[in-house]
Amino acid sequence: MNYIVGMNSIVTLISGLGSNFESIVKTALKEQWPVRFAGVIANNPEAKGLDFARENGVPAYVVDHRSHANRESFDAALIQLIDQMGGNLVVLAGFMRVLTSGFIQHYQGRLMNIHPSLLPSFTGLHTHERALAAGVKWHGATVHFVTEGVDEGPIICQAAVPVMADDDAERLAARVLSLEHQIYPRAVKWYLDGRLRIEGNQVKVQPPESQFFSL
Ligand code: GAR
Repeated sequence: MNYIVGMNSIVTLISGLGSNFESIVKTALKEQWPVRFAGVIANNPEAKGLDFARENGVPAYVVDHRSHANRESFDAALIQLIDQMGGNLVVLAGFMRVLTSGFIQHYQGRLMNIHPSLLPSFTGLHTHERALAAGVKWHGATVHFVTEGVDEGPIICQAAVPVMADDDAERLAARVLSLEHQIYPRAVKWYLDGRLRIEGNQVKVQPPESQFFSL
């Protein structure tokens, strides 16, 4: 698989399946983005997403958090590797580690995350179970720039799905994940095209385009 080498280069951090990473790569290939996938880093050597990277010519690395004494040392190793690879956009795609403020400040304005809820509702873990327990009728996913609070930061776009009466967490998660695969590539492409402006807590797309998606 060939990648067009341009001035934009992406490093992705994953912990597991890596299906969001996969959807970004596949969309980039389909739409011929002028982007370089500089590498994927997993904190977990068993992360499935590493296989997709290796099979598709994206350099794959493991920085195992368990071999670091503390968060500072783990994050310093990540920074060193990301900067060595020349990543100018850092995409968190199912990366399940809390990052230090030093890491977040280092990549301020070029660090994105996807979270499986309509933020600011349901930060943290087990979002689908908690959405069902709360009885909400809409649930979804959010792509945002990362700031120092966990699952906080200016929202780039959101996708909403209706919650069905007979949903369980697994069915709801699958419906949300399929929309994640649509919105994350859009947000990354807006960034690469220089179309995002952060104004306080607002993210504007220029020229304007809907930042809300739904099923
Ligand atoms: C996705 O649902 C993503 O939103 C979530 O983990 C899943 C990863 O799937 N991320 C978080 O919960 C981060 N707080 P993937 O590995 O198949 O992309």
